[in-house]
Order: sequence, then C-alpha cells, then structure tokens
Amino acid sequence: MSNPLLQQLNDLEQEFETKLNDLSSDTDKLTQAELLNFKSYYLGKKGALSEILKGLKSVSPEQRKEIGPRANELKDKFLNRLDRELKGLEINEINQKLASKKIDTSLLERDLALDQFAGAYHPRNLIQREIEDVFLSMGFEILDGPHIEDEFHNFEALNIPADHPARDMQDTFWFDKSGNDSEQSGHLLRTHTSTIQVRGMLSRKPPFRFIAPGIVFRCERTDASHEMVFTQLEGMMVGEDISVGNLIYFMKTILKEIFKKDVEVRLRPGFFPFVEPGFELDIKCLICNGKGCSVCKQTGWVELLPCGMVHPNVLKAGNIDPEKYNGFAFGLGLDRLVMMKYGIEDIRHLQSGDLRFNTQFKAY
Ligand code: DAH
Repeated sequence: MSNPLLQQLNDLEQEFETKLNDLSSDTDKLTQAELLNFKSYYLGKKGALSEILKGLKSVSPEQRKEIGPRANELKDKFLNRLDRELKGLEINEINQKLASKKIDTSLLERDLALDQFAGAYHPRNLIQREIEDVFLSMGFEILDGPHIEDEFHNFEALNIPADHPARDMQDTFWFDKSGNDSEQSGHLLRTHTSTIQVRGMLSRKPPFRFIAPGIVFRCERTDASHEMVFTQLEGMMVGEDISVGNLIYFMKTILKEIFKKDVEVRLRPGFFPFVEPGFELDIKCLICNGKGCSVCKQTGWVELLPCGMVHPNVLKAGNIDPEKYNGFAFGLGLDRLVMMKYGIEDIRHLQSGDLRFNTQFKAY
C-alpha cells in the first residue's frame, strides 16, 4: 500500500534542496534574514513540515510508524543544512570586512609630508639631552634660571664689579637703565648661564655638582659664527680638595660621550673674572684630525670649553667658605658643539626655524 505522506515528505525534501541551492548561489539574496524566513517556512509551527504531519491522523498505524522517523530525519537534515549556510554566511561577512579594511604593508610608515608635521627635536635639544643624561649618571643635578636677571647675579656675584672692564666683553640688552623705574633698573637679559652658578650656590650647601643649560643673549653683530641668542651649558662642582685633574676628567668624559670616541684636549690659560686659574679647553680638530683645516683655522685645535677653578670671591658671594671648599666651573657653548658634531657651517641655521634644516635631525 502506498504511503501518500511519505511521498509528500520526499517531495518536500527535494523542494527544500532545490530552493536552498538557488538561494545560496545568489550571494546578494543570501542574507541571515532570508535564511531565517526559509527556516520558518519549512520548520516553523505552521511550516510545510508541520502541515504534512497534520495528515498523520488519516493514515494507518503502520504507515505512521514509517513517517515519524522519516519526519525527524528530515527535520535534522534541514536544520543541519541551514546551520551550515548560516555559518558560511558569517564567515563570508568576516572575510568581506577584512577585505575592506586590508592594511597595505607595502606602504611607507610615514610619508615626508607627515613627518614635517609630526615634529622632531631640534639638534640642540638632541645634544642637550645626551649631555644631561651623561651628567645625571655622574651624580650632577640639572638646574634652571631666569632669562631676565639683575646685575648681582649676572655680574657682581661673579666677580665683575660695575667698573670692571670685563663687563664690556658681554654687551647686553638692558631694561630701562635710567633708574626712573626702580622695578626695572639694573635688569638685563642674561649674557651667560654663569648666573645659575650664583643661584645654585645660594640654594644648596657643599658638596654639590650641577649643570644648567639655557639660552643667553648678547648684543652681537650676527655672522656665520655669532648670534644674539645662543645656548650655553654651565657646570659647577664644589667640595673639598677639588683639582684641575677632576675638571679635565669630567670634560674628557663628556666629550667622549658626545663624539663617541676619545678626543684629545689641551688647556690654555684664559681670563674669566669668576675663575682663577681660568682656562680655554680646546679639542683636537675632529674634521682634519689636527692637521689644520678651515674649521680650526689651520691650527689643528678648536676652542670649545672655557673653564677654571672657582674664584674665592665667587664662593664668598655664594655664601661658601673659600678656606674650606673649592671647585671648578665650565661654560660649554652648545651651539658650537652642535655645529662640530653635525658639520653645520652657519650658526644662523639653528635659529632659522627652517623646516628644511630642522627635519634633517630626526629623533622622536
Ligand atoms: N660665562 C662665560 C661666557 O659666557 C663662559 C665661562 C667661562 C663659564 C669660564 C664658566 C667658566 O663657568 O668657568 O663667556
């Protein structure tokens, strides 16, 4: 005896397969919503499978025994197929998203235009940081001081009294000198970072050692090696029994770190009112190795670092007993150092703010 419900189930299976194949072959139509509609059409409460099973009432018990397992088999099969399609759909969506956000690893990390906006350290800052690191590692503090100073800190405390001709060595920018305005008279833009020696001495007790980098101002005619605004790095060490040997050791160490090789140095006598004895420390020219070139003016040596043993009058002005303590001080011209290190021939480049110059020194 033929079983009409079984026949209907077989037809339904056929139809399900064909329609699902149709749907999944058209990627535009195949969406999650479409698949869920499909599922409820065949397997929902009022879906095609349930409709067929309503006919169970009118078939014989033997036929019913055949139909039950077949109906379950179909249900499982449909669920499995739909599940596979849904998973495939999800994977497809993920792949599509990935494809649209693909990272092109062959692109350069930054292009030139971006680099200019990203900013970079000025070569002076690069060297300053390097020097600060080395001095910090040798136990020095880093101090700062004001750009506007009074005569006491810029001159008097440094053993340069009002009538001393050494004042003429550092022509500077004065605020109102008429004396009409008592707030401003006697104030100036600092001519050197040595002012911070005074501030450092007055605010601590020996032994101490510190450096003090900063910009300074002088009323100069500008040319390839002179600027009105430039940078110095002052250093001072005060304690008991400090010698010229200590001074040379620290200076050689720092120069070795900066130039990444041993540099030969020589000391010449030099006059600065705040040190006694005072020296000019020269380094053997790194451009020509001492043979003589335009950078060292054919002498084989480059003047780099004025320094000396702190004058007793300066210690006294800093409230330090010169009978008990002594020390050394130095004033490194940072701009000249930058020029030597990077082979820059004109100091004015440093202040120009020209991106074509600044962006050549990249370190972020
Ligand atoms: N302040 C001096 C200048 O600007 C440089 C200097 C010379 C600093 C000798 C020092 C030093 O500390 O000991 O010309």
